[in-house]
Amino acid sequence: MASVTIRDLRKSYGGTAVIHGVSIDIAEGEFVTLVGPSGCGKSTLLRMIAGLEEVGGGEIRIGGCVVNDVAPKDRDIAMVFQNYALYPHKTVAQNMGFALTLKGVDKREIAARVARAAEVLGLTGLLDRYPRQLSGGQRQRVAMGRAIVRDPQVFLFDEPLSNLDAKLRVQMRAEIKELHQRLRTTSIYVTHDQIEAMTMADRIVVMRDGRVEQAGAPLDLYDRPANRFVAGFIGSPAMNFLKGRIAVNGTASFVTEGGIRLPLAKAPPASDGRPAVYGLRPEHFAIDPDGGIAVQVAVVEPTGSETQVVATLAGQEVVGVFRERLSAKPGEFLPLRPNPAAAHLFDAEDGRRLL
Ligand SMILES: Nc1ncnc2c1ncn2[C@@H]1O[C@H](COP(=O)(O)OP(=O)(O)OP(=O)(O)O)[C@@H](O)[C@H]1O
Ligand SMILES: [Mg+2]
Repeated sequence: MASVTIRDLRKSYGGTAVIHGVSIDIAEGEFVTLVGPSGCGKSTLLRMIAGLEEVGGGEIRIGGCVVNDVAPKDRDIAMVFQNYALYPHKTVAQNMGFALTLKGVDKREIAARVARAAEVLGLTGLLDRYPRQLSGGQRQRVAMGRAIVRDPQVFLFDEPLSNLDAKLRVQMRAEIKELHQRLRTTSIYVTHDQIEAMTMADRIVVMRDGRVEQAGAPLDLYDRPANRFVAGFIGSPAMNFLKGRIAVNGTASFVTEGGIRLPLAKAPPASDGRPAVYGLRPEHFAIDPDGGIAVQVAVVEPTGSETQVVATLAGQEVVGVFRERLSAKPGEFLPLRPNPAAAHLFDAEDGRRLL
């Protein structure tokens, strides 16, 4: 395993810049997930690290060595794609060992490495099968096996689970995490799925439009998003945002555009009257018949373990998630109390965190 250091990396296609100076430090053995909206440059970044795309500017180091001009096969990296395309006429063992065969590695050595990877992945009994005789999850594991047998310095994953159904995704997600705990190979994992990003990563990098918005430990990003974009991107259902102004008059509060006063634990210095955006995660509303704000219920969605409520607060839509079962019906009023200590404040113009 090796560290990966990316410095001011840039890339354009034709005249269009798609990566605008990205810097990321990935430590040896770290598992980093890369998230962001479609088209923000995740695959492009990964492909540059792999050497499949030319670098437009900046530097990529693997294990301390600049690899900008090193051929992909000499970077000692293994990549697992969404579309893992196994060879249909080769067995599981042949698929897994193929890269080593091409390299001219000794047959016994290949067999030993394939056997070891198969054991790690629970594929030992399936080595003589063909891809068509496998389930989706088993095929995905063969694709992983193909990467593992190479014993690379770095694994790159580009949405490897997005072809699987929901249940299998959850299972494979746990398997990949467990695998990383065992092998400790430096890994960069691209995903759309922010739950996947949260649960698998040592660190998450959130990208938007070819730039890094924030990088940090999953719960740090969740608890202290650097700006409104990250706040809205990490967490499901997403954080609620309400427009209004900060009011400091002895105590601090936030007054929404519709004139509802929401208590704040604290306010930024000299912020009385300042326009801002108030952020609150859905689980930070409580139902409080004594002191709650009456919100009008629009939709109630019981999931069994919890109840999601979409409601209107001072003309703005909010979502609450509650552990208790609720009998509220659309059109009725529900008394919601936001937890002041869990509220976030963002600048009304550029969205950066205020406090
Ligand atoms: N070969 C190419 N030629 C021109 N533009 C490209 C090329 N490849 C990617 N792009 C553009 O670069 C931008 C980043 O694309 P990229 O595939 O890296 O996004 P992504 O974050 O992986 O998106 P997704 O989540 O949809 O996979 C997009 O605007 C895309 O249209
Ligand atoms: Mg992509």
